[in-house]
Amino acid sequence: MSVSKEELIHAAATYGTPLYVYHAESITRQYQKLMDAFSQLNARFFYAAKALTNLSILRHVRSLGCSIDCSSINEVKLAFKAGFSADQILYTSNSVSFEEIREAVSLGVSVTIDSLSNLEKFAKTYAGSYPVGVRIRPNIMAGGNTKISTGHVGSKFGIPVEQVEALQQLVQAYGLQLRTLHIHTGSEISEAAVFVQGVTLLLELAGLFPSVTVLDLGGGFKVPYRPDEKEIDLAAIAKAVEKSFTDFKNKTDRQLEVWFEPGKYLVAQAGYLLATVTVLKPTDTICFVGVDTGLNHLIRPMFYEAYHSISNLTNAEGAPTTYQITGNICETDDFAQARTLPEVREGDLLAFHTAGAYGFEMSSSYNARVRPAEVLFKDGQPQLIRRRESLDDLLIQQIN
Ligand code: LLP
Repeated sequence: MSVSKEELIHAAATYGTPLYVYHAESITRQYQKLMDAFSQLNARFFYAAKALTNLSILRHVRSLGCSIDCSSINEVKLAFKAGFSADQILYTSNSVSFEEIREAVSLGVSVTIDSLSNLEKFAKTYAGSYPVGVRIRPNIMAGGNTKISTGHVGSKFGIPVEQVEALQQLVQAYGLQLRTLHIHTGSEISEAAVFVQGVTLLLELAGLFPSVTVLDLGGGFKVPYRPDEKEIDLAAIAKAVEKSFTDFKNKTDRQLEVWFEPGKYLVAQAGYLLATVTVLKPTDTICFVGVDTGLNHLIRPMFYEAYHSISNLTNAEGAPTTYQITGNICETDDFAQARTLPEVREGDLLAFHTAGAYGFEMSSSYNARVRPAEVLFKDGQPQLIRRRESLDDLLIQQIN
């Protein structure tokens, strides 16, 4: 289930390129898979808004019954704008000033704190009057590559698990209502075993904190980017979490809730970046294909060496040829270095797949190039959900 080639070509003709296109039903399908896999557990899902914050996407996610995880106070405000209520909003930030946490509390959302320093400020301000969660650094290496791994021993995220005594002291001294223990160990986790390791550790910690009722295992569910990759086995995670929770319940008589914060799992595959081929540059070594987009619109290949499938929508039957696909930014902004595609001609329309998560969201106006428009297909109908930026947009904050 996806947007068809014809629909993509039509969208590009209507709205121009570069263009982000999203497919609502793909997001729905992914959410349903989560619901089905975890149906035996007391589970809640909070969409990690940082993957893609367009309000139309947030509203679609909300319409599914999904809650939302926000990494900044502005994401919290966007969530309210999209119609989420405070009890559906989770605020999980890091390295923020305490003022931002105070604002989140004043808005009534769930708050997860990432450092002992901010937890102490929280304790001094609210003591036990407001439930709180803490992010733990479990010292687990996980995720697609080290740049997107966040739970390991060298990671800045969370309270290092070896500092749990200090955490206990704070909780006791101020009578904190510690409700949630949270980990997020990385993005693109392909092994269910990583979640099992995390749950095991958090259950041990939950034993130390009787007020804990929620384990939040974060996001990171792997989706396929390369043709030979597979989605993480949700059933295996569900089975293992269920067993651990049942054992814990039998031992302690405490029935815990489990929360997840999927970003990529919900929106990555729902998104395409469409670009027009501007220049072909054959050389002795390879033919460069220049397109009307660059790392300013999709930074993942350059930032993480991420792989995105590329298809030539307008010459699908062309002879297979190997190219270097490059952007139009004054940097080396390769999307792919030796990629075989059906023969590419100037003017052809290329689609970068699996671009829904951290695509538009990480875009910039580098080289004074404007950000693309965004279109959402729902029930087969394309809807413009963000217009293309203009030079005026780039100038709007400048004082001259
Ligand atoms: N929860 C927390 C606390 C997070 O920090 C993240 C992602 C998520 C949930 C969602 O993770 P996901 O399900 O999307 O893997 N820009 C990188 C990924 C960075 C992820 C940052 N945190 C990329 O494009 O690969």
